[in-house]
Amino acid sequence: MCGIVGYVGPREATSIIMEGLKRLEYRGYDSAGLAVIQNGRIERRRDVGKLANLERRLAESPVSGHIGIGHTRWATHGAPSMVNAHPHLDCAGRIALVHNGVIENFLELKEELLDRRHVFKSRTDTEVIVHLVEEAMKSGKDLLRAVMAAARKLRGSYALAVISADEPDKIVLARNESPLAIGIGDGMNFAASDVAAFIERTRRIIFLDNGEVGYITPTEARVFKLETGMEVRKRIVELDWTPEMAMKSGYPHFMLKEIYEQPHSIREALKVQEKYLDLITEFLDRGRDVFLLAAGTSYNACVAASYMLSKLARLATTPVIASEFTENYGKSVGIDTVILAVSQSGETADVLAAIEHARLSAATILGLTNVVGSTLTRVSRAYILQNSGPEIGVAATKTFTAQLTVLAQLALRLARKRGKLAQYEIDELKDELEKLPELVEEAIKISDEPIKKLAKELKNVGSIFFLGRGISYATALEARLKVMELSYIPCIAYPAGESKHGPISVIEPGYPVFFIAPEDPTRKQVIGNVMEMKARGARIYCVGTEGDEELRENSDWWLELPRVSEVLSPVVYVIPFQLLAYHLAVEKGYDPDKPRNLAKSVTVQ
Ligand code: M6R
Repeated sequence: MCGIVGYVGPREATSIIMEGLKRLEYRGYDSAGLAVIQNGRIERRRDVGKLANLERRLAESPVSGHIGIGHTRWATHGAPSMVNAHPHLDCAGRIALVHNGVIENFLELKEELLDRRHVFKSRTDTEVIVHLVEEAMKSGKDLLRAVMAAARKLRGSYALAVISADEPDKIVLARNESPLAIGIGDGMNFAASDVAAFIERTRRIIFLDNGEVGYITPTEARVFKLETGMEVRKRIVELDWTPEMAMKSGYPHFMLKEIYEQPHSIREALKVQEKYLDLITEFLDRGRDVFLLAAGTSYNACVAASYMLSKLARLATTPVIASEFTENYGKSVGIDTVILAVSQSGETADVLAAIEHARLSAATILGLTNVVGSTLTRVSRAYILQNSGPEIGVAATKTFTAQLTVLAQLALRLARKRGKLAQYEIDELKDELEKLPELVEEAIKISDEPIKKLAKELKNVGSIFFLGRGISYATALEARLKVMELSYIPCIAYPAGESKHGPISVIEPGYPVFFIAPEDPTRKQVIGNVMEMKARGARIYCVGTEGDEELRENSDWWLELPRVSEVLSPVVYVIPFQLLAYHLAVEKGYDPDKPRNLAKSVTVQ
């Protein structure tokens, strides 16, 4: 999730682009760059790290012009380095392009372009696009038609802004699945992945939709359908957002924005490259002992993954809280041990310390992370990126469901490799995986209002119980963590079947007990556990599958979600609990983006 800015008009482009990039820096900060047309040539400046580095470079070597594009990067393909920083140029240095998104078929496209003697300077997926535009322009197309021709070859997500020294008053734009907006000014126009970039200069916005391309000049903004080339009459929206609201796309908090972003982030997580999935699958298959190592929310994803791997691939794994690993398993680690470390940040000290210990004992380290270039990517034998973009809210939401989505793909791939599932079962699960973004969208729609009301009812309770059986135990763990860390209400999570072995003694009349009970093989037993709690006077809150009358009748509060296969259910059934945590925090007057005493990345042991 990178940030894109474009400007064309009578003012100095560099300062307007830098101002926009500053507003977008929260979206990514591995590197930044801009390209401006100066005296008929493209001038580019780039640097790694924060924008201040690019500012310094510009001070040393200024550029001046009236049209330009800029980019702040959150790396997905290719390490965060100078050569991988955007904008990327074609072979002749006459076209510059910035991109946000992931191009799935970039390797095939790159091969074709290499055959045609294109020279690549970076390891990004983006660079293929600028060479495709170059190819099309060589065949006589203007910049707009050339970008259209290039975009038609792309599979994946993109927001693009492109300039050419041969058409020095035009920025061409294209969008598929990654946001892009045009700002209409007076004798000048703007483009950005996020209106926050230019909201202080204009509030008149055209939002591009998927499959649209367009261009801006100082006086024109036109949009076309990529498929047909037909012009689209777009509505200009007048936004009354403050810059602060614009950064959050109009949501009051980053956390809510990130909860609502999940259909998109799950779609991105489904684009993990096959070769990396294959590589990790290969290592998992070879291990004698396989540990899933993580902290916090990532640990809860590991608990879910252990059910997925066992149910689909018949692989027994041990999920371990990172800070306990060395004491508990340190002496048993050896050359046959495989460790899949899951860490959104890739920098959690407990995870890195455990890995270091295991590495010294010759274990194989694999990683799943959101941050390319993080320590985890450097110490892993192989790693997968989950493509979630930066998560600003301290509480993990979209990165959790993305982790689950990647882990489910791994489990499915291992099941296929081991021949543990019939072809029709594999096909069904693949279809369900593809449907996850829509299911999550529906779950958000269904849950938000009733949960907001529920938060008012629950805001003064002394503690809350979360119960689930099977893979829903992992959902219960995550529900507990979210609600507890944001509302500061002490919470308990247990496997529903275990609650009678002790925790049930805390139940007294009216005590709130949540059951996560999607329809799966554990449902009958879950009903038994509901009865046990009811008999002690607990107030039963149940999230179950649509049409489950028996559970609904036995609940004091009931929310039903779409049907989804057992192993994927945490992705959908965690949604109401993310919302509950958020609304409880707001009801209680706490900041959901910055819960007290917590840091986004815990880099001390
Ligand atoms: O970056 P990581 O995934 O390694 O972070 C792990 C935990 O610190 C993190 O999940 C933490 O528990 C969050 N507060 C969860 O919302």
